[in-house]
Amino acid sequence: MKKILLTLLLLTTAFCAKGQTAHESVKSPDGRMEATFLLLDGCPHYQLTRDGKPVVALSQMGFLLEWRDDLAHAFVLKEVQRSNFDEVWHPVLGEEANISNHYNEMLITLEQPVGSIESMDHSTETRPTVMQIRFRLYDDGLGFRYEFPMRYNGIDNALVCFWFKEELTQFVMTGDHTAWWIPGDYDTQEYNYTESRLSQIDSLWEKSHEHGGWPWTDFSRTGVQTALQMRTDDGLYINIHEAATLDYPTMHLNLDPKTFTFRAWLCPDAAGYKGRMQAPCHTPWRTIMVCDKATDALRSRLILNLNDPCALDDVSWIHPVKYMGVWWEMISGKSTWNYTNDFPSVKLNPEPGNSQSSILNSQFTDFAHAKPNGTHGANNANVRRYIDFAARHGFDALLIEGWNIGWEDWYGKQKDFVFDFLTPYPDFDLPALNKYAHEKGIRLIMHHESSASTVNYERWMEKAYNLMNQYGYDAVKSGYVGTIIPFAEGHYSQPINNHYHYAIVEAAKHHIMVNAHEAVRPTGLYRTWPNMIGNESAMGTEFRERIHPGHTTILPFTRLQGGPMDYTPGIFEPDMGKIVPWGKKMQHTICNQLGLYVTFYSPLQMAADFPEHYEPYLDAFQFIKDVAVDWDTSIYLYAEPGDYIVTARKPKVSSLNKAADGVGQLPDGKKNVISNASRYVYAIPDTVSIFNFQFSIPKDTWYIGGITDENAREFAIKLDFLQPGKTYDAIIYTDAKDASGIPDDSYNPYGYTITKKKVTSKTTLKLRMAPCGGFAVSLRER
Ligand code: NOJ
Ligand code: CA
Repeated sequence: MKKILLTLLLLTTAFCAKGQTAHESVKSPDGRMEATFLLLDGCPHYQLTRDGKPVVALSQMGFLLEWRDDLAHAFVLKEVQRSNFDEVWHPVLGEEANISNHYNEMLITLEQPVGSIESMDHSTETRPTVMQIRFRLYDDGLGFRYEFPMRYNGIDNALVCFWFKEELTQFVMTGDHTAWWIPGDYDTQEYNYTESRLSQIDSLWEKSHEHGGWPWTDFSRTGVQTALQMRTDDGLYINIHEAATLDYPTMHLNLDPKTFTFRAWLCPDAAGYKGRMQAPCHTPWRTIMVCDKATDALRSRLILNLNDPCALDDVSWIHPVKYMGVWWEMISGKSTWNYTNDFPSVKLNPEPGNSQSSILNSQFTDFAHAKPNGTHGANNANVRRYIDFAARHGFDALLIEGWNIGWEDWYGKQKDFVFDFLTPYPDFDLPALNKYAHEKGIRLIMHHESSASTVNYERWMEKAYNLMNQYGYDAVKSGYVGTIIPFAEGHYSQPINNHYHYAIVEAAKHHIMVNAHEAVRPTGLYRTWPNMIGNESAMGTEFRERIHPGHTTILPFTRLQGGPMDYTPGIFEPDMGKIVPWGKKMQHTICNQLGLYVTFYSPLQMAADFPEHYEPYLDAFQFIKDVAVDWDTSIYLYAEPGDYIVTARKPKVSSLNKAADGVGQLPDGKKNVISNASRYVYAIPDTVSIFNFQFSIPKDTWYIGGITDENAREFAIKLDFLQPGKTYDAIIYTDAKDASGIPDDSYNPYGYTITKKKVTSKTTLKLRMAPCGGFAVSLRER
């Protein structure tokens, strides 16, 4: 789908008639950054400097409104309030146990005085119009948002219910920076990144769409999505994104390449509005991260800090998940989601289980008597095979897709009632499989593919979550493939963003963790709603050979700034031609896949390949078994977007066995199960099958992961983060000399070497990565 919206906006500073002029500034706690609010002839603007040099030049602020005068001129400055804040908070799951939230704040109150503008009915407004702008300046960036109080100084705000036609916020860059970008799109984020100068975005627009997702709905040849990572010629790393996007459309950016000016471009709803507001209310934070080094951008917690604290009183049910899945079989083409080839068209019963349903006078598809196609992946025997493997190797959970009726005609058909999320196929015994899994210490992960019919998902959601509660599922992977229903909405408009949030809040009431695919890219909301355990919302492993080398070195700078990604790493057989005749070669080595478990933060981490693809390489698979997924400390050793990342992480011991402990609390669950990550950290021998952790002491443990693009690289890694005076056992997984993920004659993704040695905090490891390769190291105190 290709749609160019020819919307020419008269967005200029011509609004600025004669009016008040003022400027007010706030500095970052370390004094290096300064954000200045400027009112120029009544028109709001801002700018941002670091060490006295401009980072964002003079940029316009405000809104165009439907039916009413704009919020961009005729303002007077009423009040400036300043404050500061300094706290350390502790995420439920995260990249580190302690997060510093330290900022200086400036709240600007602006007013369009009575008599200065027209009201909605074209008479003169009889109440003052109040808009506030809250700036929060951190050492690593700026956040600002617009706020609309219901009342100010005891007087009702003229703004009550109002509709945005356009947000005017600009981000004026100071030069032709290098950027890592994906094209602006109302429906998909599943793109490879393009690295280019800002001035090249227009000419690279067609190329940027190669290999991307579907459906796609663009709006401009210079439109890009956030988080947008840039680097200036002076080596400054600037990242534009947003935080805490709730009840508001997603912000893309549209570039004027002549002036290097980005303007906020909100995803419209079906009626074309870009925000339906009701005071008191506020927009999301607009964020500009500024760092001297690429590694500092990975260390930044700007987006999380701008989100509200946890909204849940009880978070005891939220835990990290390392999982496998009956999934890659379908993605690779080895098996199918659908159970039968009998039905070109499926009609589901709106009252499942009631064959006499009177709601619709229709024939419903009878799966009980359908002929199985013999390729259905989610069958009892296959699911049991995966449960056995996952349990044997100390995983927490197993995802099964294609368990519920309706997959015969789900894709691209734009069906409203596409799934009921309740009725299993005849060969998927839901109660028995859950019991089988629980008795082995494994949870099953539910799958809800909404097929982008949000209306239908909401129709069934309560019943679907109840079914999960009944059988002991505590995590769901949801999906939004296809054209959004209600029709004419995009994936990131305000009403659909509200749907994603509704699903999270309702899930929390049921103690369910959510991993949404194709939903809006996250903006740090998992601080407030930590049951948002994962998201895809970018091009993940499912794109196989279409993923460019280096893609995974960019995602932590962009997509992951907003929250963890269910990237689904761990493909040990990347030559897909060995699975199906049409398969092509994926561009990575086995060690590259190992490195991803550390370079990518996600408390929900998959080992995505088939058991039979791990069997020949169980010594390398050991790293996936041993690695943790929730962290006490993270150290970003080397990074450059598009090139490489090397990260070291120390596990958070308190959450290591939480998933396994949770299974033990189920009536049919196995007690005292040991996750393999716990086994590694506590040095529990393989001969011990159940264990009580109460009086045991964990060993100081670290993991290091490295990944590279198509270029081989070598890094010297100083282990000076280890405790001095202690000796550690290191297991080092590196690409073999002849390993390569380049799909030409040199292709050898399978070659690796495993070295075991004693190290201390004084050791430096020299580790080489092959083209499209990587490495992984586990370090445990003796
Ligand atoms: C797209 C998701 O990203 C993928 O993981 C899933 O298997 C399919 N949709 C089907 O739901
Ligand atoms: Ca997807």
